[in-house]
Amino acid sequence: TRTIAIIGALDEEVALIAKALDGVEHDRAASLDVNRGTIRTNNGEEIRVVATVGGMGLVAAAATTQHLISTYAPDAVVFSGIAGNLNRELHVNDVVLGGTLRFLDTDMRLVGQWKPGTQDAPVTEFHSDDHLLHLADEALDAAGTRHITGIIASGNYFVDSPEHVSRVIHDTGADAVEMEGAAVAQVAARNDVPALVIRALSDNADTDYEVFKEFDISEYADTAASLVVDMLRRM
Ligand code: ADE
Repeated sequence: TRTIAIIGALDEEVALIAKALDGVEHDRAASLDVNRGTIRTNNGEEIRVVATVGGMGLVAAAATTQHLISTYAPDAVVFSGIAGNLNRELHVNDVVLGGTLRFLDTDMRLVGQWKPGTQDAPVTEFHSDDHLLHLADEALDAAGTRHITGIIASGNYFVDSPEHVSRVIHDTGADAVEMEGAAVAQVAARNDVPALVIRALSDNADTDYEVFKEFDISEYADTAASLVVDMLRRM
């Protein structure tokens, strides 16, 4: 039986996925409450799913990813959640698939005069798995959701000012910014586990966090989560 691990940072990002599982049991360890259940694919196969809220930020994401991999030996790790939009062609509730994941607060001179992978700028970027990207792309097309496969930047701060937006775009070339994806992709890569980062855009990175945190993000979180559920059924 295949096992797929799913991570969100916030309750809203995991709620709809946990609800779609059959026979859910809760494993509590490493400060996590892991929903362990099954889902039936469209061709009748049962797959095992472990889904958990990992918390916000790079360290929480890294620890959660390693815990799930070490405990459940999943065939893939999927992160599902929301992100700030940095791409003028995209709008709130569109989806960015993390073809490339970059940290925004490490040395990220990947765009500019340095060639990635040289001594001046060792490669510190990660990628979602091609097959998982393909599955997600199909599910998004079927749902009629506007989306791109692009660059996602991850860091330990919420981006809510024009200065931060300019710096993140300059340093990473990202289409979307969030706080976990690159850490998930990095830990998955260390373990040779295919990963996928899915982000529905919730804001244009211009909303003060104190204001943003009062927003109801469920609609955007559900856009990403329902895509995950559809993908699981297509596996
Ligand atoms: N997640 C959602 N919006 C974000 C933003 N503007 N910055 C960082 N993470 C986010």
